[in-house]
Order: sequence, then structure tokens, then C-alpha cells
Amino acid sequence: MVRGVYESAHNAAWNKRLRRVIEQATALFDGQRNWVCNTANTASLLWHAFHSLPSPSNLVNWAGFYVLDAAVANQLILGPFHGKVACQTIAFGRGVCGVAAASGETQLVPDVERFPGHIACDGDSKSEIVVPVIQDGKVVAIIDIDCAVVNGFDEEDRQYLQQLAELLAKSCDWI
Ligand code: SME
Repeated sequence: MVRGVYESAHNAAWNKRLRRVIEQATALFDGQRNWVCNTANTASLLWHAFHSLPSPSNLVNWAGFYVLDAAVANQLILGPFHGKVACQTIAFGRGVCGVAAASGETQLVPDVERFPGHIACDGDSKSEIVVPVIQDGKVVAIIDIDCAVVNGFDEEDRQYLQQLAELLAKSCDWI
């Protein structure tokens, strides 16, 4: 099933549920600036929020973070997530995550098989959205969410996740 079938019901549920994630994240970050702690809780909030929504959102199969690798320049390293085990490091410019990190721009990928260089950590993933977390003009992390069907994400997801990325950027002490 793709978006559109239960458009208005879906959007109402989506708006309410994901607005609540922002509220919950804001509350959790109050008095806490550790990036591991905050991204771990955010991965949990995202996973449960998407899974509480109608299809295709409930078919999200990976939700989490890659952060700057302190040991290797221009490389991302796996951060907190929910889902199956994933690639440990990703060079800037490689895969959807690396392109988002290198460009500083959200990558909304309706069909991963059509994205040149996509890294298939989990063969179940069919679509993906990657949103950079930018602090003081520098990419410090990325939010990565995969879905087990094509067209799993839309412009509303992009806007909501970019809002969350802005909250994370200013709420954490990054590497
Ligand atoms: N598919 C990503 C790799 C990370 S996994 O999806 C968790 C990419 O192409 O960068």
C-alpha cells in the first residue's frame, strides 16, 4: 500500500504522532547534551513513532544515526539505531549516507536500487531518507531511516526530520 489511499487519516495520525516525537525529544534533551544519550533516545522515539503509523511508515526497518568518526577524517561511524546490524563506517560521498554528509543536503530516495552507489546494509531496505545534522555549518551526524517498501517517505517526512535534525544539532555536544 502506498500513501494516498488513506491520505487524510494518515496525515492526521502522522502529524499528531511525529509532532509528539519533537515534544518528547525536546523534553528528553532538557538538561542532557550528551550525543550518545540523545541520539539513542531519538532512535527509539523514531522507531516506535513510525511503527505506530499506517503503511508505509510502519514498514520502517532501520532508524538511527551515523556520526563523524573521530579517528578518520571525512568518515561516518555507526551510532545508536534500531534495526538489524549495519555497516560500521561509511566514507563521505559513498552511499546515500555519505552523499548526505558530503553535500549537507537531505537525500530522499524513493527506490534505493535507482540510487547509484547505495550501500545495502539490509537487503530488506527498498527506500531511504537521510537527513544531515548540521552544527555551525558542519555536518556532525546524519539521521538515516530505511523502509521495506519503495516510496516509504515523502516531503512531509523530510520536513519533519529536518526539524528534528535542527533540534538535535543545537541540543547536543557533538564530536
Ligand atoms: N543504505 C545506506 C547505508 C546505511 S544503512 O541503510 C543502515 C547508504 O547507502 O548509505
